Amino acid sequence: MPNNIEQLRKHEIANRVTIEKDGGLPKITVTTSNTAAEIYLHGAHVTRFRKNSEPPLLFVSAKSHFDTAHSIRGGVPIIFPWFGDRADVGLHGFARLTEWELTKTSEKPDGSVQLHFSLPENISAKNGWPTAKVDFTVTVHDKLTMELTVTNPLKEDFTFEDCLHTYFEVGEIENISIAGLKGISYLDKTENFARKVESGDAFKISSETDRVFLNAPGTVEIRDEKLRRKILIEKSGSNSTVVWNPWITKAKAMPDFGDMEFKHMVCVESGNVAENKITLAPGASATLKVVLSSQPI
Ligand code: BG6
Repeated sequence: MPNNIEQLRKHEIANRVTIEKDGGLPKITVTTSNTAAEIYLHGAHVTRFRKNSEPPLLFVSAKSHFDTAHSIRGGVPIIFPWFGDRADVGLHGFARLTEWELTKTSEKPDGSVQLHFSLPENISAKNGWPTAKVDFTVTVHDKLTMELTVTNPLKEDFTFEDCLHTYFEVGEIENISIAGLKGISYLDKTENFARKVESGDAFKISSETDRVFLNAPGTVEIRDEKLRRKILIEKSGSNSTVVWNPWITKAKAMPDFGDMEFKHMVCVESGNVAENKITLAPGASATLKVVLSSQPI
């Protein structure tokens, strides 16, 4: 049941939360004393987070679709209940293609603003999946905090993959380095899932990169020499980290992505994928939590 804009407006908070339609999709704008964020109900998709004086933290393609048929290209697509390609059912699950329900908004005494979303219950069955309860909480403050909680209401085990597929804005892809993954095994999707081990304290990106790091629960740091900032990706309940940049050939093949936009983005995705997929016993739940922050260098 699509969200009615008039009903959604009951969740507005003066000077903090406004809700409007943008290109046909309901969009929430959040403002705190020194940060701003935007979240679309379509996919419960965070597309913007910005500290007053800094460049945006998140990348969104100028060629992104903003309609119900496509995932938004950029920001933070929610990947659930599968990651990657599945025969006949497409990439990365149906959560990013679904209009979520906004269930609550609140302003906290510390000045943060919190929004709660739920995945509509009928959407799993429509896609031939068991019906799990899926909730997403976004907290906007000096940092951006996102929590995806999956609860198994069934009488049998429920197995799924999840991922907060975050696109970061960077000054120049060849001038960034990514730290925090030393010694960790990854599947190299550019070489037919070859299993490799990251050996450096930090690595750079200078060609197509698509690495699924397994058993990787730690904090990742993106150091951006051009924008003179470092981004911290702190997480819990996440055993996988995916690092992706399509580079030029793949970029040109993507209709919703500019040919040269690969220079100004990198995805560092936090989740539980491949052999890190999660199995919940009846009644159990799991929370994937990601906290994004940045500071000047
Ligand atoms: C990454 C995958 O997570 O997402 C890549 O590892 C994939 O293989 C990328 O190309 C983008 O996927 P999509 O479906 O949003 O184009």
